[in-house]
Amino acid sequence: MSAEPIKHRILIVDDEESMRDFLSIMLHREGYHVDTAVDGAQAVTHLRDHSYDLVISDMKMPRMTGMELLAHIKDRTPETVVLMVTAFSSTDEAVEAMKQGAYDYITKPFRNEEIRLIVKNALERRELRQENLALKEELGKRFSFEGLIGKSKAMQDVFTMVKKVASSPVKVLVTGESGTGKELVARAIHYNSDRRDGPFVPINCGAIPENLLESELFGHEKGSFTGAIKLKQGLFETAAGGTIFLDEIGELPAMMQVKLLRVLQEDEFRRVGGIKDIKTDVRVLAATNRHLEDAVSEGSFREDLYYRFNVIRVDLPPLRQRREDIPVMIDFFWERFTGETGVKVTEDAMRRLIDYHWPGNVRELENVIERATVLGRENEITLDCLPPNLVTGMSSSVTPLTDIPDSGMDLDAYLGEIEKEILLKALVRTDGVRKSAAGLLGITFRSIRYRLSKFGLGDDNEE
Ligand SMILES: Nc1ncnc2c1ncn2[C@@H]1O[C@H](COP(=O)(O)OP(=O)(O)OP(=O)(O)O)[C@@H](O)[C@H]1O
Ligand SMILES: [Mg+2]
Repeated sequence: MSAEPIKHRILIVDDEESMRDFLSIMLHREGYHVDTAVDGAQAVTHLRDHSYDLVISDMKMPRMTGMELLAHIKDRTPETVVLMVTAFSSTDEAVEAMKQGAYDYITKPFRNEEIRLIVKNALERRELRQENLALKEELGKRFSFEGLIGKSKAMQDVFTMVKKVASSPVKVLVTGESGTGKELVARAIHYNSDRRDGPFVPINCGAIPENLLESELFGHEKGSFTGAIKLKQGLFETAAGGTIFLDEIGELPAMMQVKLLRVLQEDEFRRVGGIKDIKTDVRVLAATNRHLEDAVSEGSFREDLYYRFNVIRVDLPPLRQRREDIPVMIDFFWERFTGETGVKVTEDAMRRLIDYHWPGNVRELENVIERATVLGRENEITLDCLPPNLVTGMSSSVTPLTDIPDSGMDLDAYLGEIEKEILLKALVRTDGVRKSAAGLLGITFRSIRYRLSKFGLGDDNEE
């Protein structure tokens, strides 16, 4: 099976008949689909009715000039390539046309071979550009989903998971360190579900005082407690038809865990002080940046509630475990803050951005890029518009221990890491003056010198 090659469509615009005929016969013979127009007005009509890959236009024509036609084309169909034909005497004008977006110009008289080559090149270049655009669009689509950016396998898996679970009513637990995008994932699930037209209601379980939480979630009847001067609907009511997002679920007080469990089991709830049960019509999503398993074994989180939520779990790895997302995210945030695409990042700045530990994850990266848009030069990120802690490579690389891992640990190495981090922090604070750093840490100068050299951080210059 051989597919018919797609014919390129060319429009020739010239008031001189012999020129039109000459070009049209020659290009037709080359296998192009050729139309002709006697002036700009006729060309505009043709351009309205068909889409052309290439327009070859004379510069000097009555009524509409070649320049005017060029402006018209660049305005309407910028992807159409325009080639200007001009008399040898007016090449200045032709150069001006190129500044305005013409691909090239040919001076009359010209040879067949010349025109054949220039047309071929122009069309090839156009195709290449089209392909690039398509590729870019495709990349954009692949690396982003509902405002979530990520090219790493981990993030691609998250996108797939979100699409899969969105349409079912199943509860989802989103886990990950602070700033990894948990709320964004919850929103993506909501907006991909059939509840997308209903409300998305986030509530931070850790931020609301325990005594107000129940009424916040389930509402209260008038007079149910001092201060309940009128009936109040809770979030489970206002979120009806939509999704409720219980953020920091690990912070839910014990009493509320019991109440929530009941609501999830029976799909109904009661307002504080109420006597009738109200049916729920919400999808429940939850997030935590704690190890809920630890909270369960510690006894601070109910196991039964944990299992209710842990049916489907979306784990967002910390940014330092998916560093390949960093460059795409830089582009994305830069464009979001400035409206400009294609930010340049100098090599040393990119190295720091990729190597940094990112304890605050994507939120921290977002802040760093925003800062750079303010401090940096036009569309460029250099080392000097990055925050100092990033440049000195100092970050919290020590994960706080909540318990001794089952596999055991190396206490000396761990304490060493902590020591090193504190020393570096003190040095940053004191602009590298070791004497002041020692003072800050309550140790002697000798001691700080010894400790720094232990980590290979000492230098021989005395202060
Ligand atoms: N994959 C991503 N693509 C684009 N932006 C992201 C991504 N992940 C996070 N962000 C952005 O980073 C910021 C933090 O995200 P979000 O609030 O969802 O994190 P979180 O995990 O809920 O954090 P916390 O635990 O502190 O509440 C937001 O501004 C969000 O838009
Ligand atoms: Mg959050």
